[in-house]
Amino acid sequence: MGLLKKILVPFAGLVLAFWFYSGKEDFKPEMLKGKRVIVTGASMGIGEQMAYHLARMGSHILITARTEAKLQKVVTRCLELGAASASYMNGSMEDMVFAELVVKKAEELWGNLDMLILNHVGQSYFNYFDKNIGHVKKLLDINFLSYVTMTAAALPMLKNSGGSIVVVSSLAGKIGFPFVTAYSATKFALDGFFSSLRQEFAMQNTNISITLCILGLINTETAMKAISGVMTSPAAPKEECALEIIKGAALRQREVYYEYTSARIPLFIREWAPDLLDYLIRSQYNVEKLKD
Ligand SMILES: NC(=O)c1ccc[n+]([C@@H]2O[C@H](COP(=O)([O-])OP(=O)(O)OC[C@H]3O[C@@H](n4cnc5c(N)ncnc54)[C@H](OP(=O)(O)O)[C@@H]3O)[C@@H](O)[C@H]2O)c1
Ligand SMILES: *[C@@H]1O[C@H](CO)[C@@H](O)[C@H](O)[C@H]1NC(C)=O
Ligand SMILES: *[C@@H]1O[C@H](CO)[C@@H](O)[C@H](O)[C@H]1NC(C)=O
Repeated sequence: MGLLKKILVPFAGLVLAFWFYSGKEDFKPEMLKGKRVIVTGASMGIGEQMAYHLARMGSHILITARTEAKLQKVVTRCLELGAASASYMNGSMEDMVFAELVVKKAEELWGNLDMLILNHVGQSYFNYFDKNIGHVKKLLDINFLSYVTMTAAALPMLKNSGGSIVVVSSLAGKIGFPFVTAYSATKFALDGFFSSLRQEFAMQNTNISITLCILGLINTETAMKAISGVMTSPAAPKEECALEIIKGAALRQREVYYEYTSARIPLFIREWAPDLLDYLIRSQYNVEKLKD
């Protein structure tokens, strides 16, 4: 790991970063000014931070989550920060009727939609697979099916505006990590669905961008609580993470990796040494600290 960290990692990072960023348009906050944006799972964590960035950039914002009191606070803060407008809708994404209603509300408010940021995730455990199939089903509803439902409902507006779909996923949606079986499955499902849909859009000349976001560990309350003691890897800041997602979305990138190097390197290693990668991943866990 010493040699890997010292030489291979920075070198590969440099090559990849150069390849990825070369010849790309620059991001400007004005790109989001006046844009009509839905952010799901915005009562806390990365979603909340995305709402604040969008507010500073002067977007119209509609946020959702289950907890009304938290959403009210985020809306108030968005208005203070300069949002063109800010509203919320509370409800659970287990319910596909609610998922559709959120899109309907955007239509009522604005008559159109520029960006659909799909970010919410249902609660899940951080431990060995517990054979609870009900939990897997529920998580697929919340983390996957509601994303598809909202996308389907929003397609007419997004076609009309030449808009964007932003899907917040995880490194666990590209690589197998232990203790997140169901979560990982829902994130892999998102990659499959939205990568296939992106191809169809290209074939049909549908001008809707799809940005899949591959995030490493981020310092949100939920993530820090889940891994506490078990993993000691450093977590990246949620504020910067939120900004990188918005930048990638505005630039209509197919994927966003954050943090860039630490998210790209494992995928790079997997190409030629998947067993080595699995070993390196396993070595970062303190299994004795798993909660019973
Ligand atoms: N943090 C990380 O380390 C990390 C790493 C990789 C990827 N990600 C991804 O980044 C995204 C945001 O993660 P985060 O850490 O910011 O999460 P978080 O802080 O736990 O926030 C999750 C959001 O989803 C909402 N939510 C939970 N259950 C819901 C339900 N049944 N229906 C509707 N909304 C629900 C929560 O609000 P309510 O509880 O009020 O409903 C909250 O607003 C997720 O897609 C996650 O997979 C995070
Ligand atoms: C929204 O929150 C309020 C207050 O907590 C609750 O009474 C209402 O049932 C919620 N609406 C939905 C759709 O869950
Ligand atoms: C697609 O939509 C974007 C954003 O609305 C716009 O800038 C771009 O010119 C459109 N592209 C085509 C081919 O219509």
